[in-house]
Amino acid sequence: MGSIEPPTNAENGSLTFTAAVTGGAAPLSESTGAPAAENDVAKKRKASMLPLEVGTRVLCRWRDNKYHPVKVIERRKLPGSGANDYEYYVHYTEFNRRLDEWVKLEQLDLDSVETVVDEKVEDKVTSLKMTRHQKRKIDETHVEGHEELDAASLREHEEFTKVKNIATIELGRYEIETWYFSPFPTEYNDCVKLYFCEFCLNFMKRKEQLQRHMRKCDLKHPPGDEIYRCGTLSMFEVDGKKNKVYGQNLCYLAKLFLDHKTLYYDVDLFLFYVLCECDDRGCHMVGYFSKEKHSEESYNLACILTLPPYQRKGYGKFLIAFSYELSKKEGKVGTPERPLSDLGLLSYRGYWTRVLLDILKKHKGNISIKELSDMTAIKAEDILTTLQTLELIQYRKGQHVICADPKVLDRHLKAAGRGGLDVDVSKLIWTPYKEQS
Ligand code: ACO
Ligand code: ZN
Repeated sequence: MGSIEPPTNAENGSLTFTAAVTGGAAPLSESTGAPAAENDVAKKRKASMLPLEVGTRVLCRWRDNKYHPVKVIERRKLPGSGANDYEYYVHYTEFNRRLDEWVKLEQLDLDSVETVVDEKVEDKVTSLKMTRHQKRKIDETHVEGHEELDAASLREHEEFTKVKNIATIELGRYEIETWYFSPFPTEYNDCVKLYFCEFCLNFMKRKEQLQRHMRKCDLKHPPGDEIYRCGTLSMFEVDGKKNKVYGQNLCYLAKLFLDHKTLYYDVDLFLFYVLCECDDRGCHMVGYFSKEKHSEESYNLACILTLPPYQRKGYGKFLIAFSYELSKKEGKVGTPERPLSDLGLLSYRGYWTRVLLDILKKHKGNISIKELSDMTAIKAEDILTTLQTLELIQYRKGQHVICADPKVLDRHLKAAGRGGLDVDVSKLIWTPYKEQS
């Protein structure tokens, strides 16, 4: 699978972006038409644009030293500076939102300023990414006659979350740069960095507070039951109802790396599966996934996260495989809650491809999508889209038929990358969730 990090080649951005405001030819000075006068005009024109409006589209010098198209999301005045001295929070339109950042005016190419975009409220609201579950929740709390309030509160949310609030966190041995906004309680509004206890996930504003906390905190692993142990890897099941504060802390932490919204007030409804690398100092969280205790839509995973220092090491595939092992034990098929992020989709596509093609390679004779689904706990729709994307499905005589040439299978399997860490099912000690009376 190709890298989805922003491309760094020269073709990117600057060559394809056309400046909308060229200003035409600058009028020559009456006497000589000297370039100095031209410069003056250009300077004046640029000065008149400042400060740039929110919504402006312009080219911005990125960390690769190349210019890329951005949209101004927010601006703020630099302390103790002139009237037009602002810095700008920009979204690189070709890149994922996790690369949004504050930039200085010098980084912007004012010659490329495009028109000011004044997006309609409706556009913003419909562009909001919500999971179906979240939509349902909103519907449930919807009060008749207050449609506009819903739209307004959604808009407020969008407005409130557009700029990243916490820039870095300290967690165990790592200092981690965050990716997205997370709705920490208002008293943390003025914090750029937060300090997390890596075991109970309480967060603090200052290092000294964390040090004091660590002397008192006696947790050395996530609260809840250890349901899997294999070598140094352990999985803990945490019930959001029994460990509400932990569940909420985990959601605050996870939201820093997940763009789509999560619900924070109903952790009761979820189980959290927290994956840890264990050593003599304790069990250090590597990632987790959450799962609704009851899902009408057959979701077997709500949110999944591998913490950035541990990414691209196979933990994501392990977590996905684990979620399907739980589904198999429940005797159900499952699917991840939508929408999937870019990285989520890549990981799932890779997982589905490997699992399905491994079976097809070994299988002799015909096999149906239903049979594949029964064997893997992967929902039939996901099997169909995976095989369709790989062009392994043909429609013959009113039926979908899987056409699996061994050479083609091998090529796809190779492209799907490594399998990641295996789940040893014999080490899983777990019974499906049952409501306790
Ligand atoms: N660039 C290119 N491919 C990538 C990248 C990347 N940055 N990250 C993952 N992939 C692809 C690769 O195919 C990779 O396999 P490979 O390394 O063999 O090529 C595969 O995804 C999975 O790799 P893993 O190492 O198993 O996964 P990882 O531990 O990095 O976790 C995850 C993947 C959980 C999606 C992680 O990127 C993450 O936490 N992202 C932020 C949160 C997020 O987006 N979660 C999914 C939201 S959708 C939902 O929750 C239902
Ligand atoms: Zn603690």
